[in-house]
Amino acid sequence: MTKNLKVLVSSNDFADSGIKILEEHFTVLKSRYFGFGEEGLNENMQELMNLIPGCSALVWVSHHQITKELLDKAGPQLTLVSTASAGYNNCNVPELKARGIKLSNTPNVLSAAVAEIAVSLMIAAARRFPENLDQVKRGVWDGIGFQNVLGQDLRGSTVGIVGFGGIGQATAKRLVGFEVAKFLYSGHREKPEAKEFNAEFVPQDTLLNQSDFILLAAPLTDETKHMINKTTLAQMKNNAIIVNVGRGDLVNQDDLYEALKNKQIYAAGLDVSTPEPLPKDHKLLTLPNLFLLPHIGSATVRTRNDMAELAARNVVNALYGKPLITPVFP
Ligand code: DGY
Repeated sequence: MTKNLKVLVSSNDFADSGIKILEEHFTVLKSRYFGFGEEGLNENMQELMNLIPGCSALVWVSHHQITKELLDKAGPQLTLVSTASAGYNNCNVPELKARGIKLSNTPNVLSAAVAEIAVSLMIAAARRFPENLDQVKRGVWDGIGFQNVLGQDLRGSTVGIVGFGGIGQATAKRLVGFEVAKFLYSGHREKPEAKEFNAEFVPQDTLLNQSDFILLAAPLTDETKHMINKTTLAQMKNNAIIVNVGRGDLVNQDDLYEALKNKQIYAAGLDVSTPEPLPKDHKLLTLPNLFLLPHIGSATVRTRNDMAELAARNVVNALYGKPLITPVFP
């Protein structure tokens, strides 16, 4: 009955599990590969502009911004944008709201995978992976010495989590096994789930000046943009390790660079940066106490399949007039 409805998937590398669900119900149009960088961006956008007229839903599989022009091209029948991500800072929320277009995302299904990366980054930064890897590459193993290249323990540490949602909680769950001494968290409100971890709800200032590890797992909003900056970095302990699995713009990177270079804080482990990709000659990459991954938080086979299925099921619900499974706004 709905095969006459068209759904546009913004990148042709969206998982088959999601495509299969969509194709059972709708005519599915797939745009070309839509990666992180600027390369090919104009051509990709042009292809989307050509494909979108008359589509009832747009599955957004990209970290690029949804433009007003793209929405203009779509036409008034566009009912839903279903982003295959937990974050939706790139989805042009004001324009969607103004046009009465629903927005869904894919939270929860990726929490475990992102939490694994958060723990990995904590260990990589605390145990000085960049410096140690460099020794291996140079064939000079200073780390073999008894007191050389020593790192820091998760055991006995205080971990402060900014944004104690699904990812923050999944990370705390995994860290319990590392014998963390204390969890702190900050945010808009206390969370009942915190009891399981004896996590203490504290003002952000307290979290910043008491934590050995500071995990950023908050969404990017006007309020959180550059929340890590010269002022907040100055509140941290000298041994503080910042880990960011949210969005690059939570951090003022120039200020982070200075703090790491001057050893005002100990290290940083980042899965996200601004821009993405970070240019290979960027000054952050010259720092021995910075460990960067290319935004792979949710990049496992199982998680990407789960995200694709959830994104597709949100489309099915929206176009059959049922409530969204994971609405950002219905
Ligand atoms: C998300 O879902 O927001 C992750 O950053 C993966 O893109």
